[in-house]
Amino acid sequence: MNKVLLVYWPEKGNVDLVADKFIQSSKELEIQKVSILNVNKDLLEAYDNWIIGGSTVGSHVWEDADDSNRWFEFFKLLNEVDLTKKVVAFYGLGDQILYPHHFVDGLGVFQEEFEKRNANIIGQWPIDGYQFYDSDGMHNKKFYGLALDEDHQPEKTEERINGWIELIRKEFK
Ligand SMILES: Cc1cc2nc3c(=O)[nH]c(=O)nc-3n(C[C@H](O)[C@H](O)[C@H](O)COP(=O)(O)O)c2cc1C
Repeated sequence: MNKVLLVYWPEKGNVDLVADKFIQSSKELEIQKVSILNVNKDLLEAYDNWIIGGSTVGSHVWEDADDSNRWFEFFKLLNEVDLTKKVVAFYGLGDQILYPHHFVDGLGVFQEEFEKRNANIIGQWPIDGYQFYDSDGMHNKKFYGLALDEDHQPEKTEERINGWIELIRKEFK
């Protein structure tokens, strides 16, 4: 059974809820879920397979790289780990109706931060079935990871999770 570390933020919202759904849905993966508040170098090094989950909650959160931003503290921690040995997949929560020009932009931030550290990124997901105009979280008609919309398409979440797990589990170590 593949062991996977699922690192997520924020706590107690949709990202957190979906992390539990991953654990319930993936019988073939042994997932340990950890908030970025509790992650450390030893834990990151102990796992070769990672799932990273976050929500897009406004560009200011992503562009503000000071220490108050939890994600940027996490990205700094990544500098201490050899990501060339890690297989990494992303999921992102967003709202395609209220933010159709920035749907799951956060997936693009994950992509950039892990790509520049040469991680093995897997889990790109087709944009079919979503309604939006633009997203920094996609390239060539695929999202950089699994896009989920609990605000407007919650009924699709389970099926999307199952399909995505099927895709990524074959590529995990
Ligand atoms: C202030 C605010 C800004 C948001 N901005 C975006 C956005 O730019 N793009 C997007 O796709 N969703 C956006 N959303 C929607 C959230 O990503 C979505 O509701 C998500 O499920 C929240 O998950 P969380 O509760 O785990 O943070 C925004 C939500 C809030 C409250």
